[in-house]
Amino acid sequence: MKCCFLVALLAVWANATPAFPPPAAATPSPLIANVADRTTVNLNGAWRAIVDPFENGKAGFFRDEKPRGKGDRVEYSFDLSPVLNVPGDWNTQREQLMFYEGPVWYRREFDYHKRANPRAWVYFGAVNYQSTVYLNGEKLGEHEGGFTAFNLEATSVLREGKNVLIVEVNNARRADAVPALKFDWWSYGGITRDVMLVEVPSVFVQDYSVQLVPGSENEIAGWVQLNGTQSPEKITLEVPEAGVHQTITTDGTGRANFRFAAKLDLWSPAHPKLYAVSLSSAADTIHDQIGFRTIEVQGSNILLNGKPIFLRGISMHEEAPFREGRAFSPEDAQTLLGWVKDLGCNFVRFAHYPHNENEIRLADRMGLLVWSEIPVYWDMDWSNPRTLANAEAQLRDEIARDHNRAAVIFWSVSNETPVNPERLTFLSQLAKAARELDSTRLITSAMNHVDNTGPEVRTISDPLGEVVDVLGLNEYLGWYGGRPEDADKMQWKLNWNKPLIVSEFGGGAVYGRHGDADEIWTEEYQDNLFQHQLGMVERMPNLAGLTPWVLMDFRSPTRLLPGVQDYHNRKGLVSNRGQRKLAFYTLQKFYKKLAEEGK
Ligand code: GCU
Repeated sequence: MKCCFLVALLAVWANATPAFPPPAAATPSPLIANVADRTTVNLNGAWRAIVDPFENGKAGFFRDEKPRGKGDRVEYSFDLSPVLNVPGDWNTQREQLMFYEGPVWYRREFDYHKRANPRAWVYFGAVNYQSTVYLNGEKLGEHEGGFTAFNLEATSVLREGKNVLIVEVNNARRADAVPALKFDWWSYGGITRDVMLVEVPSVFVQDYSVQLVPGSENEIAGWVQLNGTQSPEKITLEVPEAGVHQTITTDGTGRANFRFAAKLDLWSPAHPKLYAVSLSSAADTIHDQIGFRTIEVQGSNILLNGKPIFLRGISMHEEAPFREGRAFSPEDAQTLLGWVKDLGCNFVRFAHYPHNENEIRLADRMGLLVWSEIPVYWDMDWSNPRTLANAEAQLRDEIARDHNRAAVIFWSVSNETPVNPERLTFLSQLAKAARELDSTRLITSAMNHVDNTGPEVRTISDPLGEVVDVLGLNEYLGWYGGRPEDADKMQWKLNWNKPLIVSEFGGGAVYGRHGDADEIWTEEYQDNLFQHQLGMVERMPNLAGLTPWVLMDFRSPTRLLPGVQDYHNRKGLVSNRGQRKLAFYTLQKFYKKLAEEGK
């Protein structure tokens, strides 16, 4: 009986196979810059979703089949499946999906009517983790990485009228992935940022970089890349407020470099001046808001616009305030960065992955300097070339989206990675790639490898210190070792005369839990720890900034203590309900003092 049933199954499957094979999997084309200023069709909303733990979908869910006759057996149906909101993670939308890791198939039907622009791309702000995209039954391509944008050309597949977009999303963790198997944040799965159709002319402005020449305050340099041209084209670059009107000509590949003098009002936290900039080709014009500033290192100082700056910062995850889950909206960004500003910060570390563009653009407008990072986190498959290529692709796409943002000053290549030769080769390659992709910003990393070079002496000796421009140090004295008071005597040494940022310190506390300063999980314990830490960091050599851990309590699968953590990391200065703990005010007071001292 079972065998003839299987034969029947194969026959139906063979029948269901469409006449034309799907096209070969394409890696995503380079990112289209500044999609917010393009002609788009918004594809956000309620998408039908099939949770598919045993990967049945591989057999053909991309075809969105429906029974053709009363005897026709099709054992899945998007029409009958519940919806998931896009953007949004699936974990916080359905209780039974909170711990789900695996494939989910999403379907979005939309009507399309061709307009002026002949070419179209499907653009995703981010999908965690692995995604395969189909349009009208054809595979457009695949993408790996949960926090970077990607776009796939759909021009030849898009139809007039009804279209069916299907995305297989899989957030299963893998040892060779980026990040790998273990990390201290919730692996929120899903289509977590905006989705849109981007319509462009046959020859369009794919990307551009308009920045100050490093070290100069009155020379702009950059490039523009057209897509779709085989012959040189004229481009007009305008910054009307600065009286800039430049005509440049691309080469045969659509690329043009430029450099010219300009009198500019420089961007800074105190004065986040953004200029309207436009680039026009024969068929396309793109508008952007760009700030001009320089950032460099001089000995132990970080110089913004040629002057030393102290970075009063905080680390934060992309966790939504109040409702939890992956943050994505302008409102989420406004709430979170509003708290950062209330702390008295001029700097924020977006941990441990590229955050959404709403946060980056708001930082640009608010005057918050940004540390941006790719999720090369804890231990990784260092010798695996596929893992390196994946990390490089995430770095490339992070830089592609944000390289015109004045706010972003650091590309961080890793966080708390173990010292070994393979890792150093891996991270050195990433640092090299970042410098090649963008020579106007600084390279850093959050390191936690220190040598105990005396009973109360710690030396930052991680060989990665040689590679980066600015040293980042994560230290948890008083939490993962010692008592808060030990910070009072601790001396720190560096193996490099480079600026130092203490990228993490902190301790957990449950909002509203009070007691003695030595009673763990109380606000008093956390506050006491902060008081001793802030005293210590002021004595550290080459200190150029701080980003204590962490702005807000966030969900984590590694935090299991009932009644205290309940799957949350409680090191926030603000609870996940927006309630400020004592340490919030201690850091706020400290930053107020620094600001008054001109730091
Ligand atoms: C680490 C790590 C963070 C983590 C924090 C903690 O340093 O970088 O991702 O959440 O420590 O232990 O709370």
